[in-house]
Amino acid sequence: MYKIIKKEVLNPTVTKMIVEAPLVAKKAKAGQFIILRVHESGERIPLTIADYDRKEGTITIIFQVVGKTTMLLNQLEENDLIHDFVGPLGKPSHIEGLKKVCVIGGGVGSAIAYPVAKALHEQGSEVSVIAGFRNKDLVILEKEFAAVSERFYLVSDDGSTGTKGLVTDILEQLIQQGECFDEVIAIGPLIMMKFVCELTKKHHIKTIVSMNPIMIDGTGMCGGCRLSVGGEVKFACVDGPDFDGHLIDFDEAIKRSATYRDFEMHQREAACN
Ligand code: FES
Repeated sequence: MYKIIKKEVLNPTVTKMIVEAPLVAKKAKAGQFIILRVHESGERIPLTIADYDRKEGTITIIFQVVGKTTMLLNQLEENDLIHDFVGPLGKPSHIEGLKKVCVIGGGVGSAIAYPVAKALHEQGSEVSVIAGFRNKDLVILEKEFAAVSERFYLVSDDGSTGTKGLVTDILEQLIQQGECFDEVIAIGPLIMMKFVCELTKKHHIKTIVSMNPIMIDGTGMCGGCRLSVGGEVKFACVDGPDFDGHLIDFDEAIKRSATYRDFEMHQREAACN
């Protein structure tokens, strides 16, 4: 059993929890995830490790309420217990040797981008962060990103906070201004990652994306995270979640993820009735 030490509502649909899990915290690295079960008979869901504190023995998770299990998780409060909390799983992000990096987070994907930006900052890399949200009410981790980056750009679709526009608008501007990034790391909605990759491909900038958003159970068994990378079949939870974004068939991934979104909505509605 894993105790929830702290719960914080970041925006109407996104919640942050700090969970006591010393063995996971001991080995956790940026880019990895945990699998949890809220109750003994509950489904397993993978969630990215948003932060960890080895000294306190805690793991931070940030999740959006999108299906039945995240809804049940969101109903737990501080001092409540999560039944299972297994990890760290997945391959850590490869950040060694990177000197100048642009980290891009889109929506709740920013929770996955943050630990990567933080790890880069801690190893001495020069980090630019572009974080994009639909509007000001959905912004998360603004202060945290600012603390681990040399340059932080906040953008919103409607202009209610930061610069009005898309993350790709800022990235294009930076490239035009002569910024030479070793790598771009983009994590967010599939459509955002697709357009970031189209832009960076044009400019020959290596781009890594996290395919965590398409994972379902995180065990390698459900097949939900299957994707085509360079013409080969891969599984995000086993072979990733990080991949070379220029090799991913995003159109296929977008089509597949829409199928599961409908299923999740249905399950959540059924749980509410
Ligand atoms: Fe089920 Fe990867 S999430 S196989």
